[in-house]
Amino acid sequence: MRTDVDHIVRLEDYLPSDFLIDRVELDVRLHPTATKVTATLSMRPNPAGRSDVPLILDGDEVNLKGIALDERALEAGEFEASPQSLTISQPPQHPFKLTIETEINPTANTKLMGLYRSSGNYCTQCEAEGFRRITYFLDRPDVLAVYTTRIEADREEAPVLLGNGNPVESGIIEGTGRHYAVWHDPFPKPSYLFALVGGRLGKIAKPFTTMNGREVEIAVYVEPGKEDRAGYALDALERSMIWDERVFGREYDLDVFNIVAVSDFNMGAMENKGLNIFNDKYVLASPETATDTDYANIEAIIAHEYFHNWSGNRVTCRDWFQLCLKEGLTVFRDQEFSSDERSRPVHRIAEVKTLRSRQFLEDASPLSHPVRPNQYREINNFYTATVYEKGAEIVRMLKTIIGDADFRRGMDLYYDRCDGTAATVEDFLKAFADVTGLDLSHFARWYAQSGTPRVEVRGHYDGTTQTYRLDFKQQTPPTPGQPTKEPMVIPVVLGLVTQDGQRMEAKCERVNSRGVFLLDKTEDSITFTGVSSRPVPSVFRDFSAPVKVSLDLTNEELIVLLRHDADAFNRWQAAQTLAMRTLAARSTGVPVSEDAMASLSSAFKGFLEEAALRDPAFAALVLSLPSDADIAQEIGQDVDPDAIHHARKELRGHLGKNCFEKLADFYHSLAPAKTYSPDAASAGRRSLRNAALDLLAAADPQAGEKLASKQFETATNMTDRLAALSVLMTIPGSLRESAIASFEERYRDEPLVLDKWFSLQAAIPEDTTVERVQRLMEHPAFSMNNPNRVRSLIGSFAMLNQVQFNRKDGAGYAFLASIVLRADELNPQLASRLLTAFSSWKMMESTRRNHARIALQSIAQKPSLSRDVGDIVNRSLE
Ligand code: ARG
Ligand code: ZN
Repeated sequence: MRTDVDHIVRLEDYLPSDFLIDRVELDVRLHPTATKVTATLSMRPNPAGRSDVPLILDGDEVNLKGIALDERALEAGEFEASPQSLTISQPPQHPFKLTIETEINPTANTKLMGLYRSSGNYCTQCEAEGFRRITYFLDRPDVLAVYTTRIEADREEAPVLLGNGNPVESGIIEGTGRHYAVWHDPFPKPSYLFALVGGRLGKIAKPFTTMNGREVEIAVYVEPGKEDRAGYALDALERSMIWDERVFGREYDLDVFNIVAVSDFNMGAMENKGLNIFNDKYVLASPETATDTDYANIEAIIAHEYFHNWSGNRVTCRDWFQLCLKEGLTVFRDQEFSSDERSRPVHRIAEVKTLRSRQFLEDASPLSHPVRPNQYREINNFYTATVYEKGAEIVRMLKTIIGDADFRRGMDLYYDRCDGTAATVEDFLKAFADVTGLDLSHFARWYAQSGTPRVEVRGHYDGTTQTYRLDFKQQTPPTPGQPTKEPMVIPVVLGLVTQDGQRMEAKCERVNSRGVFLLDKTEDSITFTGVSSRPVPSVFRDFSAPVKVSLDLTNEELIVLLRHDADAFNRWQAAQTLAMRTLAARSTGVPVSEDAMASLSSAFKGFLEEAALRDPAFAALVLSLPSDADIAQEIGQDVDPDAIHHARKELRGHLGKNCFEKLADFYHSLAPAKTYSPDAASAGRRSLRNAALDLLAAADPQAGEKLASKQFETATNMTDRLAALSVLMTIPGSLRESAIASFEERYRDEPLVLDKWFSLQAAIPEDTTVERVQRLMEHPAFSMNNPNRVRSLIGSFAMLNQVQFNRKDGAGYAFLASIVLRADELNPQLASRLLTAFSSWKMMESTRRNHARIALQSIAQKPSLSRDVGDIVNRSLE
């Protein structure tokens, strides 16, 4: 018999549901250990489904207390119930009403899926398959119903009761100490968008008038006493609503929009209709407790969840294979929002850095999968960088190919056509094909073919004919399940620059007026005419496609691009490529000449002298060299993390020494403003100043230690304080340890701030770190039950500390494996996320590789693994 763990869900097996649910009436009586749920489902056979089949509802750890069909209690034999499913073998052939009573224990729910408690408050998380942990249901995204929810609770325990949609009624139940609230959501939705909240919460709110004059109340609920940290989130929400009206013509559709922050949450946040539930890390911010990065993340995630109201909720997904339909599109939308609210090029560079460090890594690992996977064992394992980030890049490429105006027309058509339905990637592409008349079937391969394409570009100049030819070659490496690959449609945005940095006006009919050349064959060449001198090509401007590029530019030509390219992304890329060449060589024992080192530092110095203060945020990005993990990925095989770490440290020292005066200059001239403002320009100045501090400390640890300690003590905001502490982390000694102690003392009662403290210590690249992390697990603020704590301490160790996680003696791997097994008993989703830290194991040199394999096998051998961990560990070992 097939066990549950082996069960594979396949896209090709998709069938419409045999039954539909038009209306759901839920009555939820909240109780810490015995919450009673009565669900009344108005159902009917689906005309598009099979007839004469049993009705099988999904369940997960629910206890059935009663069942009635059209108000008649069913007898034993008429149904079959287990915690996993409820079957009615002979359901009616006409519309009927099914009433199901279940009992659940929210306090015992450590998986944080379904109804659970966080700091005593009740909340839910239903995506992807959590609703079935509340009641038996057709828990699939293509079953859309109108929900009315009555929530009842103890008045003391849960004075605030929130549901989806609009509030319709509330009241006190005399003599019981209990009260209730009724919420009605008029928009049909799948069960994964259901939510309710009950608890003691503080609120901030304001009115919002939509573009067509609808009055809405927008509100953020937080732990009482933290209201003053919710203002930025509310402001970001308001800006998101205005932006979606202006840029996509999308208006909000209910009378209220509520956001609730909770401390125990598996992911970032969730777009439940009218009731977004957030990890409090992405809501709460004050200058004293949050960094510039936190503010930027809050803005992006608030926007992301709000934007889902159209891309995800009004138009939802037919099945979980279509996850990128809502996630890739919504990430694209939130990226555009952040770009408009902040600096577009700076934001683009940040996006690409994440894409490369997470998605390219995933795509080069045993966990590589298409943006639209075609099979899964556990859907929660597919909320990945590939589905989200690469999914967003596909939407961006589409826009690059068809242009802004047609993109907007296509989006409008998509929303018009698919509003109120559960759609597919095909529906999405068809809207754009219909608007433009283009055949997008080849482009659609981006959804199906996994792996990062590599594009090789070679330039040939012919002075006699004054032509310049660019030869392109593309190839995508094999990935699990896909040994051979087809060529992709790759938009290459490009331009030519003269050797002295001027923009070159050359002609090429294959490049359209927006500077786009479409590479859709394995090999292709394009020729520019009227080229009077050898140009420097600037290709993949603004990172126009998620590919790895190999270019035969000399260091001198890269420096021309760094100094002069019209495209900011490629200016940054040129600096990265220059640094990466040196870093990869030094990490693999390839000698780098004194000359090459000198020219590298003079390029950085030149950049700092002429450009840095014009855009400090951009300059900070140029100064942040590729990370240890980036370098490992570039090398790709037989990686020695110690050599990489050493090479990077050395180069930072070298650049710091050679640019010392300029950096010291910046450090002093960019002194912090009197009052903190989280805006992008102020954040940019802080980031350049802190990048300068970091390089100064790399050049001269003693001087750096002094500067950093002083900054640590006098900082007036968390960004500067944390940046100083992070520099101190690189300098072992008593100053570091006393800063660690004073930070702990100061933020003793601030869990989200202590998370930063856990994270920095877990990332210390020293041999004692495993023991330090083990010790910190005993800290009163640490808890294996809270995902933020576990990710900050254990996740940072595994993902950010390349040298210690990949210790040559295998102690880092063994440690992570033991934690994964412990976490799996409490929270499988959390455990399987941690486990993905092993995704680079096959890249390591053989000693480490062997240790990693042993650690993975020790997990795989454990009986009764969750489906989440079982799936990841098996795929990792394949
Ligand atoms: N839809 C959420 C988002 O906006 C993610 C929720 C995923 N949750 C899960 N348990 N898999 O990104
Ligand atoms: Zn999302």
